[in-house]
Amino acid sequence: MLQKLKESLNNCTNCSLYKERNNVVFSDGSENAKIMLIGEAPGADEDKSGIPFVGRAGKLLNEFLEKAGIERKKDIYIANTVKCRPPKNRKPLPCEKIACEGNLQKQIDIVKPKVIILCGSCAMESFIKDKKITITKARGQVFEYKDGIKLVPVFHPSYLLRKHSLEPNSPRDLTLKDLKMIKEISVV
Ligand code: URA
Repeated sequence: MLQKLKESLNNCTNCSLYKERNNVVFSDGSENAKIMLIGEAPGADEDKSGIPFVGRAGKLLNEFLEKAGIERKKDIYIANTVKCRPPKNRKPLPCEKIACEGNLQKQIDIVKPKVIILCGSCAMESFIKDKKITITKARGQVFEYKDGIKLVPVFHPSYLLRKHSLEPNSPRDLTLKDLKMIKEISVV
């Protein structure tokens, strides 16, 4: 079912991002995973390869997943809020997010994860409608979603690329704790 959806998007023109894309970046990881991760949008490396989170941020994400005991190929299904690269890596526009929302919903409905990691504020804002809540406040909190699915916002790895400290309660330290907690709640 996911394969059909993926193929149907190769000709998608629902928003103007199709004009400059090289590849629609659909997903990576396992369709049977209990954990789903939703990022923002593809960057240049992802647009070139057609695979989410393969650039610098993706490499850092891999390190964090490994440290938290989450196997990228087996334990997690990775997708983005928007499947095509915005020019110059700008944030996706609200109209682009809306145009791609149905695709993301279908991915969630087919994968049926127990926990969704909302990676960064763009993904968080698509699911948590409280305009006052920031990623700094929301990260590590568990929000109830439909069908018993839990939502957990975490810092985006692009942000962590700029924050090197490993001190207790630093963004990197907190993210590792968040991912370990996510792994735990995904198996109960
Ligand atoms: N950042 C994202 O949010 N998604 C990717 O696929 C790559 C970088």
